[in-house]
Amino acid sequence: MPHPASHVVITGASAGLGAAFARAFAARGAHVALVARRADRLEALADELVGTHGVLACAVPLDLTQPDAPQRLSSALDARGFVPDGLINNAGFGTAGPFAAEDPARLRDELLLNVVALTALTREFLPTLIASGHGLLVNVASNAAFQPLPGVATYAASKAYVKSLTEALWVETRGSGMRVLALCPGPTETEFFDVAGDDRFKVGASDTPETVIDAALRAIDRPQGGPTTIVGAGRALTAHANRVVPTRVSLAVAARATKWGTS
Ligand SMILES: NC(=O)c1ccc[n+]([C@@H]2O[C@H](COP(=O)([O-])OP(=O)(O)OC[C@H]3O[C@@H](n4cnc5c(N)ncnc54)[C@H](OP(=O)(O)O)[C@@H]3O)[C@@H](O)[C@H]2O)c1
Repeated sequence: MPHPASHVVITGASAGLGAAFARAFAARGAHVALVARRADRLEALADELVGTHGVLACAVPLDLTQPDAPQRLSSALDARGFVPDGLINNAGFGTAGPFAAEDPARLRDELLLNVVALTALTREFLPTLIASGHGLLVNVASNAAFQPLPGVATYAASKAYVKSLTEALWVETRGSGMRVLALCPGPTETEFFDVAGDDRFKVGASDTPETVIDAALRAIDRPQGGPTTIVGAGRALTAHANRVVPTRVSLAVAARATKWGTS
C-alpha cells in the first residue's frame, strides 16, 4: 500500500532528488510544497505538477540557511491552509578538499543547511506530522554517513549526524503511526557534483534520481520498515562491513575511494 501522505513538504525541490521526489509524490496524488532558493525553478515545477497531476503544488522560495527559515516556511504554509503530513528534508550540498584549506564561510553554510536547518525543520513540523496519525519524515543522509571520509570530512560528518538523528527519531515516534526514514543514496546524477566542484564524492557508479526515488518509495511504503535505507546492495554490504573492520582499515579504504592525497 502506498504511504497515505497527502500534503508533503519537500526541501531542495528545484533540482535533482528533490524535484524527483516532488514528481513521485504528485504522481501519487499528493499535494506538495516545494522549497529551495531558485523561485523560477520551483514555479516551473509547480506548474508542471498541477498540469500533469491536478494536485496542489506551491512554490515557497527560501534560503534554508537563514535562522528564521522554518518559521517563514510554517507561516507560508499556514497562509495557504497547507497542513503537512509529510516532510522530505532533502536540501543539502557538499564541500571537498583538504579541511585546512576549505572556505570557512562555505563550511558554515554546509552545516547550517545539512545539519541545523534539517534539525530545525524537523522540530518545527514533527508535532504536526505526529498529529496526522500517519506522518512521514524522510531525512536524506548519504552513503557517506557510514564512515569518516578524508577529503570530504565535513560533508560525511554532516550526513552521519543526519543518519544518527533520524534513527533516534524512528524510535521516539514508534507507536504514533509515523514512518521515519534516513535515506542513504550513493552517487546520483544530479547537480550535486557541479555544486561541490569536485569529484571526490563520486565513489563507484552513479544512480539516476529515479532509481533512488524508487528505493525510497519502497522503504516509505513499508509501515514496519527499518529506520535506514541504503540505495544499492553493494553499498549496503560496504556500509555494514564498516561496523566490524578496525577504524584504521575503514579509513584507509575510504581515503583511497575519495582519492585523498592524490591532488
Ligand atoms: N547526488 C548525490 O550523489 C547524492 C548522494 C547522496 C546524498 N545526496 C544528498 O541528496 C540531497 C539532494 O541533493 P541532490 O543530489 O539532488 O543535489 P542538487 O541537484 O544539487 O540539489 C540540491 C537542492 O538543494 C537546494 N539548496 C541548496 N542550498 C539551499 C539553501 N541554502 N536553501 C534552500 N535550498 C537549498 C538546491 O536548490 P537552490 O539552489 O535552488 O536553493 C537544490 O534544490 C542532498 O542532501 C545531498 O547531500 C546526494
